[in-house]
Amino acid sequence: MILTDKSNALLNMSGNLPPKVPHAFDAVYKAAVQNVLEAFAPNELIGAHQFRGSQRDRSLGARFLGRRLPQVPPADRVVVANGTQSILMMLLAGLVGRNGRLALESLSYPTLLPFARQLGFQLSPVAMDEEGVLPDHFEAVCRSERPAAYYAMPTLQNPTTAVMSIERRQAIAEICRQYGVTIIEDDIYSLLPKNVPPPLSTFAPEISWYILGTAKSLAAALKVAYVLAPTARAAEERFWPGVRATYWMCAPMNGSVVSSLIEMGAVDVVIDAVREETRARHTLVADRLGSANMRSRPDCLHVWLSLPANRPAIEFVAGVRALGVEVSVSSTYAMDNAPPNAVRFGMGTPPDRAAFERGLAAIADVYL
Ligand SMILES: Cc1ncc(COP(=O)(O)O)c(C=O)c1O
Repeated sequence: MILTDKSNALLNMSGNLPPKVPHAFDAVYKAAVQNVLEAFAPNELIGAHQFRGSQRDRSLGARFLGRRLPQVPPADRVVVANGTQSILMMLLAGLVGRNGRLALESLSYPTLLPFARQLGFQLSPVAMDEEGVLPDHFEAVCRSERPAAYYAMPTLQNPTTAVMSIERRQAIAEICRQYGVTIIEDDIYSLLPKNVPPPLSTFAPEISWYILGTAKSLAAALKVAYVLAPTARAAEERFWPGVRATYWMCAPMNGSVVSSLIEMGAVDVVIDAVREETRARHTLVADRLGSANMRSRPDCLHVWLSLPANRPAIEFVAGVRALGVEVSVSSTYAMDNAPPNAVRFGMGTPPDRAAFERGLAAIADVYL
């Protein structure tokens, strides 16, 4: 029996996965799997837990992290996990914890909301401009609310696409230092663009946990992400089985395959193809919606579309939905009760360019 999901009828443009690029991905992925099967005896590879990742996976993870850092970091500060979410859960539980506080952009990754509920911590949303958090408000929040940590997304922020300048990064890092606020940086959107500033963490490495996942640059379901801890000791303390949980670990096969992709240089092949397809889709956006009040750039996986006051976002989403397309409303991302009147749509979830064009036509029909 074939089970059908009703939502299949809707074209999903609310997600912001990287577009699929089978012409580039499939061959290198198969080669990487082959490489792992030849290099390792299966039971040797899979027979025991690898808490922070095998030595090979951590070394190659360090090389991957080095794509965004001034140099390749030491492997003993790297933890390999099954995704950014798992790393966040571990860090938020350990660094913020029950009754603690987390500062974050007033519009941010919606998953932080259930994490706060599950772990019992409070959110301190910070006002933003086109670069992300405003230093003055951030400092006021740090002074009055004393957050333990700041969840930062300084590069192609989700959902607003904001990119912090170097000066803003320096200012925010300094405030974190001054108020003892740990930085948890999620840099997941940083690998498609070629010309963005270095991570916020590089301006205060001693208080930063720097996370670089593969889900938005290589493929959404690879389930491998890397985190660089401020010290080797901190990495060991936060990610060890004595905390009575091991859900963060990636399956050794996944970790090894991504290691091989890194080792073979295949990561560039995939990222280049994802970037190219994303750019091609952005050309279509510019053609269709060029005059709209929107924010994005050709190497960003989502578009933030502001709406006029007389067209509430919720009605806009319903209008697009009536045409068979799903986009997401700004309140999804709101960490306070004052979301702007806007929607987000993604570049990569439609299966091909033709489907993307169909979705775009629906958005333009309702917008224009
Ligand atoms: C900011 C951000 N971090 C992390 C993720 C998901 O990462 P992972 O699949 O590695 O848990 C997403 C996906 O939407 C995201 O937007």
